[in-house]
Amino acid sequence: MELNKAKQEFNKILKDNGVVDYENNTTQLFLWVLKVNKVELLLKQQISNKEYKKLKQLVLKRAKHYPLQYLIKSVEFFGNKIIVNKNVLIPRNETEQLCEMVAKNSNNKKVLDLCSGSGCIGLGIKLNSSADVTLSDISSGALKVAKKNAKQNKLNVKFIKSNLFESINQKFDIIVSNPPYIKTCDLINLQPEVKFEPMVALDGKDDGLFFYKKIIEEAPKFLNDFGEIYFEFGLGQEQSIKKLLSKDFECIKIFKDYYNKNRFIYAKLKDRLC
Ligand SMILES: C[S@@+](CC[C@H](N)C(=O)[O-])C[C@H]1O[C@@H](n2cnc3c(N)ncnc32)[C@H](O)[C@@H]1O
Repeated sequence: MELNKAKQEFNKILKDNGVVDYENNTTQLFLWVLKVNKVELLLKQQISNKEYKKLKQLVLKRAKHYPLQYLIKSVEFFGNKIIVNKNVLIPRNETEQLCEMVAKNSNNKKVLDLCSGSGCIGLGIKLNSSADVTLSDISSGALKVAKKNAKQNKLNVKFIKSNLFESINQKFDIIVSNPPYIKTCDLINLQPEVKFEPMVALDGKDDGLFFYKKIIEEAPKFLNDFGEIYFEFGLGQEQSIKKLLSKDFECIKIFKDYYNKNRFIYAKLKDRLC
């Protein structure tokens, strides 16, 4: 079958079903199914019936807004190839900035990635620093994916299955977390793609701040002296989180993401002797 004909058919299906960036989606699916790079794809003129059937099956799933990343099973993130499936949140581009901030400050430090999901943050930090990194999540499915990601990227990190700090019994120099932060009542309004991602990764309970409250309250017990904390947060949450931090933390700084939105917060544990 002619590749261009199939491409046109698939573009139309995705466009008619309201898939944003539909041409790029079609290209990504071709690259994945045909196992070729972009240049090889440009030069290719024919696909087999088997390839066409496989592609069509994926395109029809994508047309129902099943996320592209779950179909092609991985994403590039801060230098690592990160496997994703329905047990983990798909790493967002903005989160790479969080990795960058932490990695720069992590050499020879003990770092805990709390609510680690696919492991993208902790593994990104490990790849780009000499930190001793531990990943922790409540979800066995997510930890399984994170372990695969560590192995695939040849990164030596530790794993702890834990409900926040419940099963953690050591101290760290840095805690970094991108916890669930969407208000329960807003979950219904999410983009159709996001609704395929695990609820446990999204639901920040009543006011969306449940996890920040819990983590900030308990973090001092799990931080070494002068320990530091970094969070990613949702739109408009910065002042509430700053207030929560101000009891035990100082030097609080808010950072913007690539889209110029306040997205990250940093704070340092107050001197316990004062
Ligand atoms: C927003 S996702 C972030 C995943 C990953 N760190 C990232 O940035 O892509 C939040 C993660 O928190 C985990 N989680 C939810 N409740 C938790 C809890 N009580 N204790 C530990 N992890 C939890 C979810 O399983 C999910 O993997």
